Amino acid sequence: MCGIVGYVGKDNDGLKKLIDGLEKLEYRGYDSSGVAYFQNENIKIIKEKGKISNLYNEINFAEKTNLGIGHTRWATHGKADKENAHPHMIGKFAIVHNGIVENYTTLKKELMKKGYSFKSETDSEVICALLDYLYKKDNNILNCIEKLNEILKGSYALGILCSDEPNYLFAVKKNSPLIIGIGDDSNFIASDVPAILDKTKKYVVLEDGDYAKIKMDKLEIYNNGKIKKYDVKDFGFDSKMIDKQGYEHFMLKEIYEQPEVFRKTTNPYLETGFDSLFNKMPDFSKYRKIRIIACGSAMHAGLVGKQMLERFANVKTEVETASEFRYNKLFLEPDELVIVVSQSGETADTLEALKIAKKNGNDTLGIINEKGSTIAREAKIVLYTEAGKEVAVATTKAYSAQVAMLSLIALNIANFNNFISKKEKVEILEDAKKLPNYMEGLLQKNEVYKEVANVIKDYNDVFFIGRGIDYALAMEGSLKLKEISYTHSEAYPAGELKHGTISLIEDKTPVIAITTDKNVASKTISNIKEVKSRGAEVIYITNSDYEDDTFYDKKIIIPKINDIFTPLLTVIPLQMIAYELAKIKGCNIDKPKNLAKSVTVE
Ligand code: M6R
Repeated sequence: MCGIVGYVGKDNDGLKKLIDGLEKLEYRGYDSSGVAYFQNENIKIIKEKGKISNLYNEINFAEKTNLGIGHTRWATHGKADKENAHPHMIGKFAIVHNGIVENYTTLKKELMKKGYSFKSETDSEVICALLDYLYKKDNNILNCIEKLNEILKGSYALGILCSDEPNYLFAVKKNSPLIIGIGDDSNFIASDVPAILDKTKKYVVLEDGDYAKIKMDKLEIYNNGKIKKYDVKDFGFDSKMIDKQGYEHFMLKEIYEQPEVFRKTTNPYLETGFDSLFNKMPDFSKYRKIRIIACGSAMHAGLVGKQMLERFANVKTEVETASEFRYNKLFLEPDELVIVVSQSGETADTLEALKIAKKNGNDTLGIINEKGSTIAREAKIVLYTEAGKEVAVATTKAYSAQVAMLSLIALNIANFNNFISKKEKVEILEDAKKLPNYMEGLLQKNEVYKEVANVIKDYNDVFFIGRGIDYALAMEGSLKLKEISYTHSEAYPAGELKHGTISLIEDKTPVIAITTDKNVASKTISNIKEVKSRGAEVIYITNSDYEDDTFYDKKIIIPKINDIFTPLLTVIPLQMIAYELAKIKGCNIDKPKNLAKSVTVE
């Protein structure tokens, strides 16, 4: 949430580098943005409300600078306006901040008594004043940052400029990600990889409590007052992976990448069939129960996973939203495996839930997309999804990679317990090979998705219904629709409508009904008939051959495949309908309003 970039180097095109970096980070927040940079030994600040293009228009790129920081904001404390935009500057310090300072109100009061006044409503400006106050008492910046670490509560990644130090960029990190990019005669700071990926491939990850003194040709990292050694790592991918490659939106490109993502995620485990699955997966035999904890779409992937784990592998599985799990009474049992699912590997609530499970003594497994992310480093075991960089705020390919990984876990446990016959194993392996082609077939049905989007575009409320695994998919379909097309929708277990919600069904109310789960298809069809007879416009997504065509208005057929893989097909029409509707409504598809790609605040 929010994006930070910083540059110190021999080249004087610092403003261009900062804006480039911010544009790549805009998916992390786009309420306002700003830069602070050295000009003739003075710090100059430019900031603007709204998108980075607004900031861009205010910048004179002829100005030369070789040291600066930039920020793109997702508002937490204070409105999304220019005053609250970062950088903030008080006295000799300009800072950019990601995270939330929990004790900022107390600190603000104390600092006001000491004569400080504030222009913004942010917690971040308080850090700036505190730094200035500490520096007036002890003229050593590193000592002051160390002191900040003792005083501040909450989460923060900071980029800092001090007008007394026109050659140095300072940074500090606690509970909010920050990396340092190592270039030739240049160094960078960034809250996330894309900001610097086209500038360098080498980077250092700051740990909690680390702070850094960075010059164009020198990096020193400290923790607890002592200088520390650090590892320089290499990004395993290049900047081409964050290019739209001719697609109109990143989201569309990412939807279309799903067949390849499925291959990349599952091939290593299925190389030699169930043997390689068994050899490459962790040992699950010691766990009696599984708890999946995640947020948003990752939690929805967990709900699909629950159905698979319970049905195929006969393991009791519970799914919890990380932000609820953290504050609920803890009922983790000793032989319970906690699986956290996260694309970014940085989601604050998921990370904290993981820490709780670890502290309780439970084994933890992370299903993570971003290599080396905080959650990946914290989890005992990590299974990486191979979705590659996902740029669109609305997740698509990372979600399906999560579902694919959960299906592999379910298959592995089922196989270990001899729940799958030889014949079925052969079929499953064949279906795994066929699946990408089936996905491609569904992606080609563009016209159908457009037609559906045109049907629902004039309605303010849409319902998604299904049972079992189809209900889990309905939840994801509904979230996608809300997130990018700003159309209100609700996902309901099909059998539950008549207990209240059916009163909202009127003439032409769009209902997207899913029946791919043959165990409950006939029951769901009865529920679809209930809404149809009350006037609903039914879009029916199914893999069944049920011949009655009186209860729907439009039908989308999903190819038949082993049940374990069906959700990976069903989700495609749901993603595409949301995409097409958002397009018709002229929404900002890759960067929906009020959202950010990784949610690093609780
Ligand atoms: O990075 P994570 O997978 O932990 O993110 C979890 C959710 O914030 C995320 O899935 C969110 O719901 C998506 N924007 C939905 O498309």
